[in-house]
Amino acid sequence: MPEVKPYSSDEDKKGQIENMFDNIAPSYDLLNHLFTLGIDRGWRKKMVRMIASDKPQNILDVATGTGDVAIMMAKMLHPEKITGVDLSANMLDIGRKKVQQAGLSSIITLEQGDSENLPFSDNTFDAVTVAFGVRNYGDLKKGLSEMRRVTRNGGQVAILEFSMPGNKIFNFFYRFYSKVIMPFIGKITSGDQAAYSYLFESVQQFPHGQSFINILKEVGFEKNTARPLFGGICTIYKCIK
Ligand SMILES: C[S@@+](CC[C@H](N)C(=O)[O-])C[C@H]1O[C@@H](n2cnc3c(N)ncnc32)[C@H](O)[C@@H]1O
Repeated sequence: MPEVKPYSSDEDKKGQIENMFDNIAPSYDLLNHLFTLGIDRGWRKKMVRMIASDKPQNILDVATGTGDVAIMMAKMLHPEKITGVDLSANMLDIGRKKVQQAGLSSIITLEQGDSENLPFSDNTFDAVTVAFGVRNYGDLKKGLSEMRRVTRNGGQVAILEFSMPGNKIFNFFYRFYSKVIMPFIGKITSGDQAAYSYLFESVQQFPHGQSFINILKEVGFEKNTARPLFGGICTIYKCIK
């Protein structure tokens, strides 16, 4: 799969991704909700509901960013402990403030770390989640293998990621929106047009549906399912170690 990076410099993808999210962190939450008209909250909620049946008590949220999924899981699942890991210090700073404001500091810990080299022992977590993160991994299979390694045997992993709509007309409008409108608004609000052009490029080339399920299988996950949302704009994958 060709590597899509946000900037034209020689820096590796991981370094560029860290810089990009450090740059856009102050406007990340606002733009997220603006671009999706708030629907993204419902997508994250659906993912959280999909791991609720096992009543996980120790959960890891990878690429946690500003902590929306971690906070949502604390409120919806009432686990003992949630750990969020992310590359970007600036995203985490905003996340920590949100966790504190929500009065969840005793349950949620956010730490800087790399999803491709997770600082946890094997079989640590009852469940592992990642929302809009895997597309940014430098090495997708390494990142997924790490998520599997730290999940306990039988534990659930849920992955929410953008995909491409199957319907031709919807696909046309979605492409126009994400290729033209989003980078334009992204430039005005965050000052970083490249970050929002990268969003379109990276979604286009990223495997979705059966192709992504094949990768999950290759990495060793079982009972892999894909649930497309909103005409296929994004998909929730669920699998078991
Ligand atoms: C689009 S944001 C998603 C944040 C959050 N999960 C959400 O739902 O809003 C992607 C996040 O993934 C993080 N990220 C990308 N690659 C990573 C990696 N290899 N390890 C840890 N975090 C990573 C970025 O720093 C960024 O905060």
